[in-house]
Amino acid sequence: MSKALDGVRILDFTHVQSGPTCTQLLAWLGADCIKVERPGVGDITRGQLRDVPNADSLYFTMLNHNKRSITLDAKNPKGKEVLEALVKSCDVLVENFGPGVLDRMGLTWERIQELNPRMIYASVKGFGPGPYEDCKVYENVAQCTGGAASTTGFREGPPVVTGAQIGDSGTGLHLALGIVAALYQRNATGRGQRVLAAMQDGVLNLCRVKLRDQQRLQRGPLKEYSQYGESVPFGKAVPRAGNDSGGGQPGWILKCKGWESDPDAYIYFITQAPVWAAICKVIGQEDWITHPDYATPDARLPRLKAIFARIEQWTMTKTKFEAMDILNKDDIPCGPILSMKEILEEKSLRDTGTIVEVDHPKRGKYFSVGLPVKLSDSPAEVKRSPLLGEHNDEILRDVLRFDAKKIEEIKASGALGGSKPMAAE
Ligand code: COA
Repeated sequence: MSKALDGVRILDFTHVQSGPTCTQLLAWLGADCIKVERPGVGDITRGQLRDVPNADSLYFTMLNHNKRSITLDAKNPKGKEVLEALVKSCDVLVENFGPGVLDRMGLTWERIQELNPRMIYASVKGFGPGPYEDCKVYENVAQCTGGAASTTGFREGPPVVTGAQIGDSGTGLHLALGIVAALYQRNATGRGQRVLAAMQDGVLNLCRVKLRDQQRLQRGPLKEYSQYGESVPFGKAVPRAGNDSGGGQPGWILKCKGWESDPDAYIYFITQAPVWAAICKVIGQEDWITHPDYATPDARLPRLKAIFARIEQWTMTKTKFEAMDILNKDDIPCGPILSMKEILEEKSLRDTGTIVEVDHPKRGKYFSVGLPVKLSDSPAEVKRSPLLGEHNDEILRDVLRFDAKKIEEIKASGALGGSKPMAAE
């Protein structure tokens, strides 16, 4: 079956997480993704957080499915020649090096346009133009500078970073959208363009509702934040709101049966207004359906802490899954706090291909997250990540159409490092 991005060839000059997330998504959508790596070392994540000796780490394998790997020393003259040939034969160059790295390699935007005016040159950087544009950035730095950390955690505690990789994977996702849009525009203009996704911008985009609240705060207290009900005055900036619901429907995380020994025996419970009567019936507090202190959303706002404490008395008598079953019969929005172990064991996620089992020649079988978007005409098939330099010969021969003599010259120059596939040290 054909794929959405069939015929698109990507020069994948990415490393670590943000860039590889982007190119992996494009590869799942059908793009031919050629990952350029430093000879002998490769993407640094091949060797980071290793769980199997001498095998590429899960860090690397889970971010680099469906790609081909070529090793290339971009600072060797022959390596540079190969790199420029790749620029000529690819549609998109994706990179997430530190600021200025590609320019120092001689691959300026001007040079890229000379080589291939149709080339889309896509980058992840920590910051957009401005005071911090020259800074190197990792995930948590982006979470802190994009507004996530200052708005995450509990009011009394310090800022907190989230486990969701909104800085790295989130920005990779934004970049993928930019690339697909640029490919579409190229159909009309015939020209490539630069695409930049700054991690600070990506995180801020995901924190949009907090910027909304910052502006609302200038007009009065944020009534849906539980600190309002607790009569704690607001300061000048949006506070951390613990587990308050982000929207206008108050919610909180409540203990369930077994919470004393299971750190994930909790449920997220939303007191959605249309099902208030059903909530009162389920917890056995039917008088709250009509009581003036509880009957309307506005009346409930200053009393949320007490309301959730009462609901928790009920949730503590049920496991999170029992509570989920009971509450869903009445369309009460809720969700069990699922551990990674539970998610990994969840059959429905396996059935849809959201969690896939992949076999790897050096590390054996492991699980990964597949394409989280399902396209009916472009199903994603998850293929293992490449070994370092596994496709050196086939890329030089079949993509760049170099003859045997030229390939030997390139190899002899040391530009590829070694000619045999190898796992990174
Ligand atoms: N051949 C020769 N040299 C190579 C090469 C190759 N195939 N691939 C990389 N290099 C060199 C580069 O030329 C550069 O050298 P230089 O600084 O002397 O010019 C160096 O390797 C890589 O530099 P850099 O990207 O700055 O790596 P780093 O490990 O110092 O920093 C990051 C890592 C992630 C902090 C940085 O890349 C960055 O800020 N990226 C943008 C933001 C981002 O994506 N962050 C999230 C990562 S998940």
